[in-house]
Amino acid sequence: MTQKLTIIRPDDWHVHLRDGDMLKAIVGYTARQFARAIVMPNLTVPVTTTAIAQNYRNRILAAVPEDLKLEPLMTCYLTDRTDAGDIRRGFDDGIYTAGKFYPANVTTNSAHGVADIRNIYSALDSMQDIGMPLLVHGEVTDAGIDIFDREAMFIECILKRVIADFPDLKIVFEHITTRDAADFIMESGPNIAATITPHHLEFNRNTIFQGGIRPHYYCLPIAKREIHRLVLRQAATSGSSKFFLGTDSAPHTVGAKESSCGCAGLFNASCALQSYLKTFEEEGALDRFEAFASLNGPKFYNLPVNKEKITLEKSGDTIPNTIPVSDTYIVPFHAGETLAWKLDTSINV
Ligand code: DOR
Ligand code: ZN
Repeated sequence: MTQKLTIIRPDDWHVHLRDGDMLKAIVGYTARQFARAIVMPNLTVPVTTTAIAQNYRNRILAAVPEDLKLEPLMTCYLTDRTDAGDIRRGFDDGIYTAGKFYPANVTTNSAHGVADIRNIYSALDSMQDIGMPLLVHGEVTDAGIDIFDREAMFIECILKRVIADFPDLKIVFEHITTRDAADFIMESGPNIAATITPHHLEFNRNTIFQGGIRPHYYCLPIAKREIHRLVLRQAATSGSSKFFLGTDSAPHTVGAKESSCGCAGLFNASCALQSYLKTFEEEGALDRFEAFASLNGPKFYNLPVNKEKITLEKSGDTIPNTIPVSDTYIVPFHAGETLAWKLDTSINV
């Protein structure tokens, strides 16, 4: 049985690093595991211009603990008023790596998102032209559509249309949660890929309601039926280069989660690789983990593969019960549990 795994240092192709005290409290967890991170722009004041992105990038770099490194890859929050010229300049100058499409009001801090996809068509035109990936939160927002159907509906109502109108646009369908999305990705061209989170590989919608309502398992897109989880596990471990790692680690303080109207998102940065490895080992696919975690993402983004390596060993890793943030705390994914795989922080090959 494999006891040790040395792989090229992975990147996280979707993470929420937040700002202020929260950023300072959590960024080290991402930096410990990953070399680069695609940083989500849904701050309270969203990252809608190159100037905001540059300042935010500097705050992230300043918050990374001294003994660690992280290269933040910035994204632009697309709005109905996005300036296609600013997008183009931001990408050409290396400030932006991708543009993020949140349908308006789909999730946390998305009120400034896009009301109608046609409102960003000039930005999409530029992005297609310059090879800048579009990252999509793939859920429709119509309150009349069942929350468990919103991702599948997004494919039919929006994604197919965007692909038809911009056939060469690079698109990442983020944090997919359904068989519909996994099948769609497999059938689409090489410019369409998807990220899969560690948590959607580990639990289904029953877990959210096991013995009562469990807010720490609530995220968006919401976990679906077991059949969807099984298909996601097949997709992630299939060896297809169209799927890659994106944690969607999205911390909220305990008060914001354990509330009468709790926030969506779970913090998994303290156990992301351990959690993914649990899935890959259970699926007999440890030999395919490096491609999913470290190769497929850079290939899609046309970026170099990292030079550094990391080692994980099966020595057991107990995840903390809580992660302190100023005078409160976060309850992380797998809080207090011991997972089999542990990142060996003493070795950097
Ligand atoms: O669960 C989620 N949390 N989904 C998102 O799309 C946003 C995220 C957040 O920012 O908290
Ligand atoms: Zn996210």
